[in-house]
Amino acid sequence: SLVTSHHLRHVESMSRLPSGCGKISHLNAIILGESLASEENDLVFPSPEFSAQALVSSPEQYRQMYKRSIEDPAGFWSEIASQFYWKEKWDPEVYSENIDVRKGIVKIEWFKGATTNICYNALDRNVEAGNGGKVAIYWEGNEPGQDGQLTYAQLLEKVCQLSNYLKHVGVGKGDAVVIYLPMLMELPIAMLACARIGAVHSVVFAGFSAESLAQRILDCKPKVVITCNAVRRGPKVIHLKEIVDSALTECAKYGVSVGLCLTYENQSAMERKVTKWQERRDVWWQDVVPKFSSKCAVEWVDAEDPLFLLYTSGSTGKPKGVLHTTGGYMVYTATTFKYAFDYKPSDIYWCTADCGWITGHSYVTYGPLLNGATVVVFEGAPSYPDSGRCWEIVDKYKVSIFYTAPTLVRSLMRDGDEYVIHYSRKSLRVLGSVGEPINPSAWRWFFNVVGDSRCPISDTWWQTETGGFMITPLPGAWPQKPGSATFPFFGVQPVIVDEKGNEIEGECSGYLCIKKSWPGAFRTLYGDHERYETTYFKPFPGYYFTGDGCSRDKDGYHWLTGRVDDVINVSGHRIGTAEVESALVSHPQCAEAAVVGVEHEVKGQGIYAFVTLVEGVPYSEELQKSLVLTVRNQIGAFAAPDKIHWAPGLPKTRSGKIMRRILRKIASRQLDELGDTSTLADPSVVDQLIALSDC
Ligand code: PRX
Repeated sequence: SLVTSHHLRHVESMSRLPSGCGKISHLNAIILGESLASEENDLVFPSPEFSAQALVSSPEQYRQMYKRSIEDPAGFWSEIASQFYWKEKWDPEVYSENIDVRKGIVKIEWFKGATTNICYNALDRNVEAGNGGKVAIYWEGNEPGQDGQLTYAQLLEKVCQLSNYLKHVGVGKGDAVVIYLPMLMELPIAMLACARIGAVHSVVFAGFSAESLAQRILDCKPKVVITCNAVRRGPKVIHLKEIVDSALTECAKYGVSVGLCLTYENQSAMERKVTKWQERRDVWWQDVVPKFSSKCAVEWVDAEDPLFLLYTSGSTGKPKGVLHTTGGYMVYTATTFKYAFDYKPSDIYWCTADCGWITGHSYVTYGPLLNGATVVVFEGAPSYPDSGRCWEIVDKYKVSIFYTAPTLVRSLMRDGDEYVIHYSRKSLRVLGSVGEPINPSAWRWFFNVVGDSRCPISDTWWQTETGGFMITPLPGAWPQKPGSATFPFFGVQPVIVDEKGNEIEGECSGYLCIKKSWPGAFRTLYGDHERYETTYFKPFPGYYFTGDGCSRDKDGYHWLTGRVDDVINVSGHRIGTAEVESALVSHPQCAEAAVVGVEHEVKGQGIYAFVTLVEGVPYSEELQKSLVLTVRNQIGAFAAPDKIHWAPGLPKTRSGKIMRRILRKIASRQLDELGDTSTLADPSVVDQLIALSDC
C-alpha cells in the first residue's frame, strides 16, 4: 500500500481535533497522503554548482544562522537592519512583544523609536549607491509586444511626482489611500508614493466587485481612490472606473464620501472620451501628476507607523484589515526575498502575483526593490494569447527567478509540455511556489519540465498576516522533498500543537502555531484589536495561531496541509465560506446557503454551495446562473461557486448548527464516509441531498 503509517496517524489525529477550532477538510488529507506516501523519503538535491554559489550553501550554514537568529534575535536582526538607512536608530530595545493573551494586550513592536522610510530605502538608497541606471521594472502588457521599462532613477522621479500631487491635494501622514489598479507600473508607483509621504495604502485587487470595494472603502475611509479607466485581461475589457463609480455611490449612502478619484488613462484599453466622468471628483492622472516636481522630500516615519492595510478573508463575512507597519516589514521582506531566492544583483525576477494580494506587496514591490532587483511586472493573463506566454516572457527578459502559484503550474501542466519546450528558459535558475500546498506531481512537472531539472524550487509558506516567508527552502542549502515547504526562515519558531495547545515534538501532525514574534508580523486588524486577539492569539494561548494544519516528518521537514478553519483556498486566493454564503442569501430567492471546499484539479479547491430556496421557488438552471452571478457581483469572479447543489434542507444538529462535515462528504461523493448522522435534527435531509446530487 502507498499509505504509510505516518499518513494514517495524520488522518487519525486530525479527525479527533476539536470542533471549536475548525475542521480539517478531506482535501487536505488527500494532498498530505499523496505527499507523505511516496515523497517523504524522496530527496531532491541542489546541484553542487548551485550550492557552491549560493548565499547559504549547506544545512550546517543554515543551522548556524538559524540558531543565532533564535538565541539572539535582537543581535541577528539589528545587524541586518543596519544595512538599511534609518534617520534615527532604535533605542534601546530592538523589539518588544507580548503575544500571550493571558499576560495582557497583545502587542508587537520592532525597531521602535527608529525613524525611516521604506520608499527611500527601496529607491533613493539604490540610486545613491550608483544604481540609478539599473532597470527597476520591466513592464509587459496584456498584448505581446506592448511593453515598457523604468530605471531606478526614473521610477524615483515618477514616485516623487505622485507623492507631490498627493500632498498637494491634502494627503498626509497616516491618511488612507485606496488603490484599485491592474498590474500597470502605476500600481507599484502609487504604493511607493503613499509610503514616501507616510500615507497608508490599501490596495484592493482589481478583480473585486463594486460591493467588495465599497466595503473596504467604508472601513478605511480613504481621502483618495486611485484607479484607471479600464484594463484588458486576455480578450476582455473591464471597466474599472465604472466599478469605482458604483462603489463610491454605495459608500455615499452610508455617509462616506471620497472627494477625489485619481484616474489613470489606460489608453490601450479605453479612450478617455468614452469614460464616464464626474466633474470635480474625477481627475485624470496624466493631466495633473506630470506637472509636479520629480523631487519630493521624504516623510520620516516611526518604524511602528502603519505602512499599509490589506483586507483578507476570515471565518466571518466581514473581511479583516491586516495592518503592517514600516520598519520590521521592510527588514523582513527584504531579507526573506534575498535568502529564499538566493538573490544576486544580476538576477531578473518575475513574480506572477498581482499587487492586490500580499504576495504582490512583499514580493513584487517591496522585497525585490529593497534589494535593488530588476522586477518584471506583467499586466496580462498567463495563457493569453496562448499557454506559452509565460515562457515567452521568461526568454524575452531573461528571467532568472520565477515565482508563481501551484494553480498556474497545474493549469499549464494540463495544457501540455510543448508550450514550454518551445522556449529556451535557459536563464532560469530558481523557481518559487506560493499560495497553497503544491502537490508533488505539479512540483515534479515544474522542476523537470519548466526548470529542466536544474532549478531548485522554493515552496514558500506564509500568509497575509505574516508579511513574508515563514517556512521555506533556502535553495542552495537543503535537499528538497517535493511538496514540503521544508524548514523555518531565520527567526521563525514554528510549533505543532495538539487540540489542547500542547506542543508536540518530533514526527507529528496538528495545528501550526508560531512562538515569539518576527519583524514582519502584522500588528493588528484595523479598528478591531479584539478580533486580532480572538482569531490569532486566543485559540492557543502563548502562540500565534496560523489557521493551518501541518505535519512534521522524521527528518523535521514541514508539510502544510491546508486551512483548518472555514476559509477555502481557491487558486491560491483565500475566500471565507461565510462571505460566499452571505452573498448567496442576499439573492431574493435564496433562503439559506452552506458553502464547502472540494478538491479541484486546477484550482486546488473549488467552491461548492448547498442552497435552500425560498418556499415554492422551483429549481432551474437559470436560477443557478443567477445565484452564481450574485456572488460574482458581490465579491468578484474569482469567488464564483463551481457548483450549486439544491438543498431542500441542510443537515443540522438539534441546536441548529450546520454539520459541514457531512456536506463535505456529499460534495466530494464520499457517501460511504458520512459517519454518524443520528444526531441530526432531521436525518432524512441527507438522503434528499444525495438524491439531488446530479441536478
Ligand atoms: O493555507 C495557507 C496557504 O495560504 C494561506 C494564506 O493565504 P493568504 O493570506 O491569502 O496568502 C497567500 C500568499 C502568502 C495559508 O494560511 N498557503 C500559502 N502558501 C502556502 C500555503 N499552503 C501551503 N504551502 C504554501 N507554500
